[in-house]
Amino acid sequence: MIGERQDLMEKVTALCKRRGFVFPSSEIYGGLGGMYDYGPYGVALRRNIRGLWWRHTVDLRNDVVGLEATIIAHPEVWVASGHVSGFSDPLVDCLGTCRKRWRADHLTSDRCPECGGPLSEARQFNLMFRTHIGPVEDTASRVYLRPETAQGMFINFKNIVNSMRVRVPFGIAQQGRSFRNEITHGNFIFRLREFDQMEMEFFVPPGEDERWHEFWIGERLRWYTDVLGIRAERLRLRPHGEDEKAHYAKASTDIEYLFPFGWSEVEGVANRTDYDLRQHQEHSRQDLTYLDPDTNERYLPYVVEPAVGVDRIMIVCLLDAYDEEEVKGETRVVLRLHRDVAPVQVAVMPLSKKEELIGPAREVLETLRSAFRVEYDQTGGNIGRRYRRQDEIGTPYCVTVDFATLEDRAVTIRERDSMEQERVPITSLLARLQERFAG
Ligand code: GAP
Repeated sequence: MIGERQDLMEKVTALCKRRGFVFPSSEIYGGLGGMYDYGPYGVALRRNIRGLWWRHTVDLRNDVVGLEATIIAHPEVWVASGHVSGFSDPLVDCLGTCRKRWRADHLTSDRCPECGGPLSEARQFNLMFRTHIGPVEDTASRVYLRPETAQGMFINFKNIVNSMRVRVPFGIAQQGRSFRNEITHGNFIFRLREFDQMEMEFFVPPGEDERWHEFWIGERLRWYTDVLGIRAERLRLRPHGEDEKAHYAKASTDIEYLFPFGWSEVEGVANRTDYDLRQHQEHSRQDLTYLDPDTNERYLPYVVEPAVGVDRIMIVCLLDAYDEEEVKGETRVVLRLHRDVAPVQVAVMPLSKKEELIGPAREVLETLRSAFRVEYDQTGGNIGRRYRRQDEIGTPYCVTVDFATLEDRAVTIRERDSMEQERVPITSLLARLQERFAG
């Protein structure tokens, strides 16, 4: 089972490269550990994931607003947040032949997993990337690439309250790049050194934090099953034990997925208490309290935070969707992606490259463009091969224009999962597809 599942990771990785989803960064120079570039279908998939998160976290609610803060912030932000002193992992060096570095808390033995050699004492390694602002590279000019987007929302709390007429409870949501100099990266795009986060800080009155924590755990779990269509049996909730909670958390629950390498975190939903606002209030000497206009009570709100990485959701979508089946003695690889995340929703293809089919096919394409993410697929061999290619990138429907179209003004809709075909007049094609997408 595990072997089979490990095989799945390799197959998905290969498909991602073959079909233009994910490429190793700087590949022509030998690659760079923990960094990946996204190709056209990868970009589309990520945009869809981000869009669905934003829609359900911000647009469909009245109590969450958006923000985009800078990646580089005042260095004191990271002192106040505890990242300068505490955002580190225990690092050990192999003293044997391979000389590899490991995260001590990931090891199960006191010998090197690669060569069996002895290991050094563990030392703390800070995960923040450092750089300098301005021309002089000294400690006074040192700044950090953010390791989480969250702090941007805490340091703008007062700006949002003063400009947006929001009332606690309310949330601030943000999507953007984060950076961590991870000691060990790996499992494809699971653990990266540069990645995209989607985080929401939900500010609540103290005392209501536990109730809101439960609320957001439920909301977020449902988003995976109901919006992304991820299989419920491959998802579970895992509350953190006392010894694994982050320095800021009173409680935290991970939403885990059954990856080929076992159950692992996709998203964390934490109760951060008033830790961050309190720290920033002390370090900045600015009043960050909130005045409740109804009760006239002044307090520092507590914070419930759902936090997730886009790359991690992307690999979950791909692993969950990957399937192989035998069709007429051949293996058909198909990504059964949810129609809302699929990079292409409808591919339009003329049966052959004959001029008389290309015109009508292009017309059909333009009719559908306003409603769907479409692609025109003319090259790449016979129609069977083009269907297979669309199956591999997860396109829910193909529409084929053939010679009969010239007579009957109808086209064939071919569905990805069942491979069933339906003949539809061009005049009702858009409505028919909309019906299928809605159903
Ligand atoms: N603001 C809280 C926070 O950043 P975290 O558990 O360290 O908490 C939140 O990160 C999410 O960000 C994780 O659940 C994961 O989805 C994603 N993430 C964290 N580190 C990552 C990495 N090195 N590569 C890819 N995604 C990562």
